[in-house]
Amino acid sequence: MLILGIETSCDETGVALYDSEQGLLAHALFSQIDMHADYGGVVPELASRDHVRKLLPLCDQVLSEAGKTRADMDGIAYTAGPGLIGALMVGGSVAHSLGFALGLPVLGVHHMEGHLLAPMLEDNPPAFPFVALLVSGGHTQLVRVDGIGAYQMLGESVDDAAGEAFDKTAKMLGLDYPGGPRVAALAEQGTPGRYRFPRPMTDRPGLDFSFSGLKTFTLNTVNAAREAGDLNDQTRADIALAFEAAVVDTLTIKCRRALEQTGCKRLVIAGGVSANKRLRAGLEKMATKLKAGVFYARPEFCTDNGAMIAYAGAQRLKAGQRDGERIVAVPRWPMNTLPPITEPRSEGLVD
Ligand code: KG4
Ligand code: ZN
Repeated sequence: MLILGIETSCDETGVALYDSEQGLLAHALFSQIDMHADYGGVVPELASRDHVRKLLPLCDQVLSEAGKTRADMDGIAYTAGPGLIGALMVGGSVAHSLGFALGLPVLGVHHMEGHLLAPMLEDNPPAFPFVALLVSGGHTQLVRVDGIGAYQMLGESVDDAAGEAFDKTAKMLGLDYPGGPRVAALAEQGTPGRYRFPRPMTDRPGLDFSFSGLKTFTLNTVNAAREAGDLNDQTRADIALAFEAAVVDTLTIKCRRALEQTGCKRLVIAGGVSANKRLRAGLEKMATKLKAGVFYARPEFCTDNGAMIAYAGAQRLKAGQRDGERIVAVPRWPMNTLPPITEPRSEGLVD
């Protein structure tokens, strides 16, 4: 089954072709980062307009790279949410129009399910059940995964997402959007131990997260250094390192608890922040002690991409799930409301 996957939930136009027998055949991504950088964050209307410009050329590009034509396709998957409504509508409109024209089944996919399943595209995919840490720009969640669509929410952020905290810290340090990779790069030059930031909500039981207090602590530290006339490159790097270490420690402590609580021996990390090297290293060290394995996607499939949507869509389309005639676009969509792969999907997801 050859599935075209389309991702347009935010600021990346991602397209991929996934074959259920042969695996990933081609993928392409256009990032709008340069366009939004001047504004310090994503401008939704600009994002939608750029998806309109890039999406069909990228579809043609992956088809030609894979040596296929539209006639070879068996189905189309697109990101139906969560995300920016205008941006989602672009992907949904193109997917449904292509599906209608070619007589193919079309399915709206949950963006975070895409992230969650992205490690399945790698050589050593995790078996079910596993615990997943989803860490992106909009979500920080711990989920017990017993199968596709069998998701039990173990904990989540009560305020900012981990990626959002990275992005805001970057702004405070005068770094460009998107901040995560830039904070991580700056932290490489940091002096370990100069600052120690709090590890929020680790001193009490439970698997929820909170990053807004850490954000305020970072801001206060930056302001104090500025007032002392000490906000030089080294201090900024030291703050970046202290912030990153606090996020990594916090996530690691909660992941350890989740593994202990569930008895699972596999931890999957997914979403943009899972590209972070210090996080990967921290989790691997912790998991080794528990004799557990850590699984993640290659860096380009940690952040938004079309391959994860093609993969997730292929699993559900293969099981017979498909949209009705209406485009599904759901800006807010809890992942644990998704049906297991064995059940038909209900209509009525449209807001
Ligand atoms: O999954 P993603 O591409 O988009 C969403 O679904 O939100 O995640 C983007 C987030 C941004 O907040 C970005 O700063 C963060 O992931 N990120 C990182 C790294 N690479 C991306 N954060 C920390 N370290 C990184 N290497
Ligand atoms: Zn994402």
